[in-house]
Amino acid sequence: MKTTTSRALQCSATLVAAGLLLTACGSSGGSDAGKQAQNASFQGRGPITYVAGKDSSGVVQKVIDRWNQLHPKEKVTFIQLPTDADSQRQQMIQNAETKSDAYTVLSLDVVWTSEFAAHQWIDRLPEQQFPLGKMLKPVVETARYRGGLYAAPASSDGGLLYYRKDLLKKAGITTPPTTWAQMTADCAEVKKLPEAQNASCYAGQLQKYEGLTVNFAEAVNSAGGVVTDANGRPDVDTPEAKKGLDFLAGSVKDGTIPKEAVTYQEEDSRQAFQAGKVVFLRNWPYMYSLAQKSEVAGKFGIAPLPGLDGPGSSSLGGHNLALSSFARNKATALDFMRFFSGADSASTFLKDASLAPPYAGLYEDPSLVKQYPYLPVLKQSILRAVPRPRVVQYGDVTSAIQREAYAALTGGKSSAQALKDLQAELQKSTAQ
Ligand code: GLC
Repeated sequence: MKTTTSRALQCSATLVAAGLLLTACGSSGGSDAGKQAQNASFQGRGPITYVAGKDSSGVVQKVIDRWNQLHPKEKVTFIQLPTDADSQRQQMIQNAETKSDAYTVLSLDVVWTSEFAAHQWIDRLPEQQFPLGKMLKPVVETARYRGGLYAAPASSDGGLLYYRKDLLKKAGITTPPTTWAQMTADCAEVKKLPEAQNASCYAGQLQKYEGLTVNFAEAVNSAGGVVTDANGRPDVDTPEAKKGLDFLAGSVKDGTIPKEAVTYQEEDSRQAFQAGKVVFLRNWPYMYSLAQKSEVAGKFGIAPLPGLDGPGSSSLGGHNLALSSFARNKATALDFMRFFSGADSASTFLKDASLAPPYAGLYEDPSLVKQYPYLPVLKQSILRAVPRPRVVQYGDVTSAIQREAYAALTGGKSSAQALKDLQAELQKSTAQ
């Protein structure tokens, strides 16, 4: 007879190999693995590490310093990983595969929860210790796996349309576009201005990395398509999805999107917008506070993402705090996670670095809305955002999307062929 532990491990290993959405293996209330993790004791006090992508604002160290002053014997060291999500994921996985205790608290992209939880690289958390009821529901969902809480929501993310309000106004346009066609028409007007002659219309993050998965999914969703259906099954070889991908690929081809945008990550696209190279840019809220300190300060506005027939929809982004299963000093880690994901820290992250808080109340706080007038737009963007596929094999899924979308954008394949191939690849990586 197998022990609970070996059965849990075997169960999880089978599921991981199959890349399932994980509905099998144990009751809906949680797997043996989940229960095991739930019972994990959070013991040990002392120094720990916090591991996240590079912080361009300096606010992360500021909040950590606050913690360190209060907890001199339980200091947190900030380990900064590269800026792009794929490299962060790779390094975190390497750390887990060697069972290293170098990383304690992980800033986990919302799309990695299932993968990290299924492999038991992160501990299941005691949810009564986090004020989940005060948080936006879709944000909390990103931290769950098979009903259990595996991470504490720290910051959310929703895509926004940044636009050059000054140029639109000069061109006689008073409201931002809600459709792609309007956006292109507005650009044509703006480009008649001498100062905008060399500008391109629009950019996003189209380099072959996680940002492309985000931008691709947004284009598909904003044209009425889906990447996966309500049951998590791939359904991307459709006329709607094609309209979405055609918008991106066609725009690169005809110059609406500048050619170099296929090399842009978030920061490259921000620089392009600040340098006046594009009139419209899709980016996350973190950009607001940085752009306000740049040459376009006071010259830009923020609107919901446009779509095919009306406002589009964002991909749901964000980061949650997870506890590495291989870490030491877990009692300290849990306290730090509560501190770092608490409302006070979220408010500092918002005030200093315009990061989207998980807490619903902060979007209505009058002084914050005064500082960040776009908060209501951001809240809607997050509430209406579409999650990327929630699968254990997320690495395979996102690589397939990146490969096929990039081929369509750079002319290697037609949109129709890329979507056909993507559907087949997604079916394989999510097959039972
Ligand atoms: C942002 C989002 C994250 C997303 C990444 C893509 O960091 O918060 O969810 O995966 O951008 O570049």
